[in-house]
Amino acid sequence: MERVLIFDTTLRDGEQSPGASMNLGEKVLFARQLERLNVDVIEAGFPASSPGDFESVKRISQEIRGPQIAGLARTTPKDIDTAWQALKQARAPRIHVFIATSDIHLKYKLRKSREEVLEETGRAVAQAKRYTDNVEFSCEDATRSDPDYLARVLEAAIDAGATTVNIPDTVGYTTPTEYAKLLTQLRQKVKNIKKAVVSIHCHDDLGMAVANSLAAIENGARQVECTVNGIGERAGNASMEEIVMALKTRKDFFNFEVGILTEQIYPASRLLTSITGIQVPPNKAIVGANAFAHESGIHQDGVLKEKITYEIMKPETVGITQSTLILGKHSGRHAFRDRVLSLGYELSETHLNQAFQRFKDVADKKKQVFDEDLEAIIADEILRIPDFYKLVNMNVVSGSTTVPTSTVQIEIGGKLIQDAAFGDGPVDAAYKTISKITKTKSHLVKFSVNAITSGTDAQGEVMVILEESGIRVTGQGAHTDIIMAAAKAYINALNKLEYQKRPKGVPS
Ligand code: KIV
Ligand code: ZN
Repeated sequence: MERVLIFDTTLRDGEQSPGASMNLGEKVLFARQLERLNVDVIEAGFPASSPGDFESVKRISQEIRGPQIAGLARTTPKDIDTAWQALKQARAPRIHVFIATSDIHLKYKLRKSREEVLEETGRAVAQAKRYTDNVEFSCEDATRSDPDYLARVLEAAIDAGATTVNIPDTVGYTTPTEYAKLLTQLRQKVKNIKKAVVSIHCHDDLGMAVANSLAAIENGARQVECTVNGIGERAGNASMEEIVMALKTRKDFFNFEVGILTEQIYPASRLLTSITGIQVPPNKAIVGANAFAHESGIHQDGVLKEKITYEIMKPETVGITQSTLILGKHSGRHAFRDRVLSLGYELSETHLNQAFQRFKDVADKKKQVFDEDLEAIIADEILRIPDFYKLVNMNVVSGSTTVPTSTVQIEIGGKLIQDAAFGDGPVDAAYKTISKITKTKSHLVKFSVNAITSGTDAQGEVMVILEESGIRVTGQGAHTDIIMAAAKAYINALNKLEYQKRPKGVPS
């Protein structure tokens, strides 16, 4: 049976989602989860785009030994050299070179002629080939390019040594039938096409990224580029979990092998949400909260009689297990470590101690601690970037007859600073005091609160998006007291803004 390779670009194209930027530690943590998922290729970043991207591609290349590691590069000699410097320690490095081929991009963006782009393609692929045999070439905006010209560019790339050629639907413009036709035409027009793996890469602007990807697979594509939860530029990329589960669930129809360990899909989806703060809509296929929930009486009756009546996949197949009571305040360190490991987190001794201490605090306040609580604790304690601003104390007074007032103490560079402020409500009072102390002028773009589990003693999880001088960051905080959770989320976002202002690539 033929195999379809899964090329995951969550850490590159996915990270281009508004508010999805991740720091070095978060990228390495997520890359480990991609390794557990058993993806074939991890696109770890775009090394020439920033020192931070360079550093994360380098670290992932050093640490991840299973999947191939790809780094993106434009056709310039400097980009290709930089990509190689970041990738060279990988077990199986891949340089991914791209240039646009549509007349729209040539005229308005590149200001180059078709002949110039053709010449640059051959030269860039040949340069990458001197570093590694594993070279991918992408024609950006392929679906709005002239198919005859596209065929010439692809042929030149393969002649120069490209082993994978990618036909992206960069702006999410094509349709399944049209994309299938383009793939068929290219297989006929590109004489040397058999020497390369044909790859596809779809964006979801018209909501057709997954359908387009599957249509291309039916028509010769053997690598699909996708992201966890479908995050990515604008409306996102094709969703990895939807493509994989379509290929697996409808194997009778597609008849392809995929290497993904599907039980790792849900943990990957949750981890990405914890890191980026980008919530999955409840009705999202495969990983949404309602994906396996049967609401109508007729459906419930059918499922109780026989699951196959309305269930085409088992939730356990994608790693969704019943949220069971797992730990309480008498649980020991050993049980805690085992549970954290089974959730997919390999923590250092220091991080484990930190998380265990926090777990004990939560277990004291809350009788039952669930998997979701543990994930929130880990996100809050471990995935945080190092604190520049450290919340030491906060008191908020609020009620129907008093003006909401907050007093806050924050440690900044070892110095304890305190202040107080009034607000329209307890969160507003806390936020005003924090911005007074930190002297920050960020704008609050989004604020959301979620109860992590059910019950009035549930931990509240707050997600905020802050913007300052064009930089957007997300911040998260979890606590049984939602005002505390809100303050922690705000401080987390301020720390991220501070981190972004420091020289990139300097892990602190
Ligand atoms: O959407 C796109 O065209 C891309 C390429 C760089 C592969 O992301
Ligand atoms: Zn893309």
